[in-house]
Amino acid sequence: MAEKKRILSGMRPTGPLHLGNLHGALANWVKMQEQYDCFFFIADWHALTSDYENTGFISGYIRDMLIDWLSAGLSPEKSTLFIQSHIKEHAELFLILSMITPVPWLERNPTYKDQIVQLSNKDLSTFGFLGYPVLQAADIIIYKAHGVPVGVDQVPHVEITREIARRFNYFYGNVFPEPESILTETPKILGIDRRKMSKSYNNAIYFSDSPDKIAASVSKMLTDPQRARKSDPGDPDVCNVYEFHKFYSDSKTVDRINKECRTAEIGCVECKKIMAQNLIKALEPMREKREYYEARPQLVDDIITDGCDKARRVARRTMAEVREAVNL
Ligand code: TRP
Ligand code: SF4
Repeated sequence: MAEKKRILSGMRPTGPLHLGNLHGALANWVKMQEQYDCFFFIADWHALTSDYENTGFISGYIRDMLIDWLSAGLSPEKSTLFIQSHIKEHAELFLILSMITPVPWLERNPTYKDQIVQLSNKDLSTFGFLGYPVLQAADIIIYKAHGVPVGVDQVPHVEITREIARRFNYFYGNVFPEPESILTETPKILGIDRRKMSKSYNNAIYFSDSPDKIAASVSKMLTDPQRARKSDPGDPDVCNVYEFHKFYSDSKTVDRINKECRTAEIGCVECKKIMAQNLIKALEPMREKREYYEARPQLVDDIITDGCDKARRVARRTMAEVREAVNL
């Protein structure tokens, strides 16, 4: 049997996961488990690069994230699930890679320039923040991953990773494969205010939300902005509620909404109610799994320990090669 190709990806533990994360990344990871040798990890050191002043939430977020992952269908039997800071080898490789990474590569990184402007309320003029992609490169190549499933925003980091791997191989011999981005499609569903769904916009629906909370969020969703009154015909094609229907309602319902919205036979209040019910039903299995894991903290601890042990074995093997290549 041919060896499965290895892929790796990570998420920063900055809060509970929402439907945007589910459709954008997680659902894709869950599918990839069948096809690839998957390594998925929680990038807690990376969370420190921007939130170093306020670290009190991190340990809770890490646990919540793991439970979010498990309830969405990541499986500790199929994938290696682990926490970055538990594998100290990432830090050692990061240090060695930092010796060979030219600073201009990091300074011209588009996400670096963007974030400095966007997060102007934080002082990001730190060494660690500039070095973010070097740590990310260490995360990826320490497992000799071939593919990195990411959204478009992370592609520059995978590019820098390739450049760093190439430079390492050039100086010290061929140790690392050059990983490729596997682009994850960004979901069409938006936040309840029609902006990109994001924790910082306060417009997200979380998959840990209670049914009541979900119903309340859906009732607040902005719809076709041209449709002021129920008697006005609407246009589902510009309505975010309709996008949600396409994900969560059966095709008969979707067709009916499409027609009755245009003819003003159905009002937004009713349309949202139907959608909320279907959304709540679709998330029910996840809610059950979440309750299962929340009631079994020891099981969650064991999953973390096992996943970290598996990851550490691979990372240690690579580091032995790295030290030899670098003559340490
Ligand atoms: N930078 C990624 C993000 O913010 C998280 C991350 C850290 C990552 N290390 C990684 C993603 C390695 C893929 C591979 O989303
Ligand atoms: Fe959107 Fe439904 Fe209202 Fe049409 S009826 S505008 S699809 S919420």
